[in-house]
Amino acid sequence: MATETCTQAYGEPSYWDNRYSNESGPFDWYQKYHSLAPLINLYVSRHHRILAVAFSEGMVDDGYEDVVNVDISSVVIEAMQKKYCNLPQLKYVRMDVRDMSEFETCSFHAVLDKGTLDSLLCGNNSRENATRMLEEVWRVLKENGVYILVTYGAPTYRLSLLKRTFSLIKLHVIDKFVLEKRTDPPKWDLLKPVPFDNDVRPLETMLGQNPDVHYIYICTKDSIQSVIAEDCSLKTDQKYDVAVE
Ligand SMILES: C[S@@+](CC[C@H](N)C(=O)[O-])C[C@H]1O[C@@H](n2cnc3c(N)ncnc32)[C@H](O)[C@@H]1O
Repeated sequence: MATETCTQAYGEPSYWDNRYSNESGPFDWYQKYHSLAPLINLYVSRHHRILAVAFSEGMVDDGYEDVVNVDISSVVIEAMQKKYCNLPQLKYVRMDVRDMSEFETCSFHAVLDKGTLDSLLCGNNSRENATRMLEEVWRVLKENGVYILVTYGAPTYRLSLLKRTFSLIKLHVIDKFVLEKRTDPPKWDLLKPVPFDNDVRPLETMLGQNPDVHYIYICTKDSIQSVIAEDCSLKTDQKYDVAVE
């Protein structure tokens, strides 16, 4: 059985302000961009408008043209604004992902998340905060847009939460420690989704106990779901009834 541990402080904005005040960049968690790039390229076109609740250092070098980065910590947002002031393709905005009302509905082709949902799941009212974030992600995505979540959360801990909002979900895995110049082949094929169904136990058996991987969930805002939600003006929990398989 996979286990999940986290520190409650990760859910507190003041924790991140303090941490960023005392650390120098680059602030890139879990995986460097170049390790994830082949997968991002697979799902996100370079001219798409992207919302990064992650710091997408490296994306502009890879040809992405319009990336809006958000974070609740003003310390890190100011540091990144300064660092990338010469790159108009990158914008940095201080924002709470639980309320992204500054952004219009259906305004991004893709949302990238590396560690932010995980942080919210560590704090007080974690479930409620995570749900609010996912509702906002779903709202700002265009139809057929993708939410790409890079996380340490195994399917046991993430799938039921994601399925409340997204009905189409694929899973990829990547070794936690991707070496710059590796000689051995990676254990997992990043570009090949890992099959799973409602019962995730066979999947977790296949991955092994506490595997050294990060999980990457590709959640699509499918058009049928959007039409039903808009046409019927569904309330949040009614929308969940539609979204859950
Ligand atoms: C593990 S770090 C990941 C940093 C970054 N996303 C990356 O790609 O490396 C978690 C980030 O979530 C941010 N965060 C925590 N709660 C947030 C919230 N409610 N809204 C926006 N960002 C939040 C923290 O400030 C922190 O930068």
